[in-house]
Amino acid sequence: MSTPVRIAVALSSMNSAEWIAPLREACSAAGVAASIEPFEGRPLDARYAVVWLPPAELFAAEPNLRVLFNAGAGVERLLALPGVPPQLPILRLVDAGMAPKMAEYVCFFIARITRNLHRFGGPQPERNWNFDRPRGTPPTVGVLGLGAIGAQIAQAAALFGYRVRGWSRTPKSIEGVENFAGSARLAEFLAGTHILVDVLPLTGETRDLLDRRRLSLLPAGAQLINVGRAGTIVDDDLLALLDEGHLGGAVLDVFRTEPLPEGHPFWRHPKVIVTPHLSGPTPREPAAKQIAEAIAALEAGAAPQSLPGYVDRSRGY
Ligand code: NDP
Ligand code: OXD
Repeated sequence: MSTPVRIAVALSSMNSAEWIAPLREACSAAGVAASIEPFEGRPLDARYAVVWLPPAELFAAEPNLRVLFNAGAGVERLLALPGVPPQLPILRLVDAGMAPKMAEYVCFFIARITRNLHRFGGPQPERNWNFDRPRGTPPTVGVLGLGAIGAQIAQAAALFGYRVRGWSRTPKSIEGVENFAGSARLAEFLAGTHILVDVLPLTGETRDLLDRRRLSLLPAGAQLINVGRAGTIVDDDLLALLDEGHLGGAVLDVFRTEPLPEGHPFWRHPKVIVTPHLSGPTPREPAAKQIAEAIAALEAGAAPQSLPGYVDRSRGY
C-alpha cells in the first residue's frame, strides 16, 4: 500500500472541519491515498496545503510543501502574505460552482434595476396595477473580466436578452458577447455600458482602475455591480459620482475592508446596496473534487503550471 499523501488544511476565516470530510471523500474518489489534517501549529510534514489566508507559521512548519491550493478564486491577499515561499506554485479554484451562483446574483440585480422590481417590496397600500414593462431596446451590460466567472455572468445576461459586452486582457470569443480586449479599448467599452459588472481580480494593473475619470466615461445614469474586488474601484470617486447624479446606483458585494466598517458611508447611502461578500459561496464538494483531481494529476507527474487555476504570479492572478 502506498504511503498516504499528507495534506494540511489552514482556512483562517472558514470552518476547516467543513472542508476535511469532502476533501477526504474527493481524494478517495480520485484514487489519492491521503492523510488530511487541520494545521494547528504543529508540523504535519505536508506535501500539499489547502489554505485561505493561512497563518505565516504554516510555511515555517511545512518546508516540504509542493503546491498550495487556494480555497477560493481570488489570490491577491495570499500573494501579499509574508512568508509564502516565492517559488511555491499556487493553484486557485476555477469556478468550482461559484460562477453560476454569481451569475444568478448579478442577473437578479440586473432585473431589479431594469424592471424596477424594488418598487414592489413590502406592503402596497395604493394597490397600483399600472407599471412599466420594459419593451424598448435592452440596456447594455458590460462585464469587466471574462474569466471562469465573468464569462458565465456575461453568458447568463445574454440569455436574458441583454446586449452584452466584456472586457479582458487578452481577446475572447464568447457567443453573444462583444469583446473589448486590452487597456486601449477600455474607454470605448465603458462609454457604451449601462450596467457595469466588475468581476476583475485585484492585481497591480487593476488596482484603482475605476477612478473618477474612467467612471465618468459611463453614460449618465449607469449602474455598477461589483462582485470582483473592491480595490479595483476608488470608493470616494464612486461616492462622488453617485452624489452628483452621474451614476444611478451601485450594488456592492466586496469592500476594501471586510467586514465593511460600521461608519462607512456605503452602509447608509440611498443609492448603494451592500451585500456582505455573499455573491459567490464556495460549494464544498465541487471545490474538494477540483483539488483532489489536481492532486491526483500532480501525483501522476503533472506540472502545476499545466493544471487549471495555476496562478501566474507575474500577472497577479
Ligand atoms: P479569472 O482569473 O478566471 O478571470 C479574470 C479575468 O479578468 C480574465 O478574463 C482576465 O483577462 C481579466 N483581467 C485580469 N487582469 C486584467 C487587466 N489588467 N485588464 C483586463 N482584463 C483583465 O478569475 P475568476 O473569473 O475566477 O474570478 C475573478 C475574481 O472574482 C476573483 O479574482 C475574485 O477577486 C472575485 N471573486 C469574488 C467572489 C465573491 O464572492 N464576491 C467569489 C469568487 C471570486 P484574461 O482572460 O485575458 O486573462
Ligand atoms: C473568492 C472569494 O475569491 O470568495 O473565492 O471572494
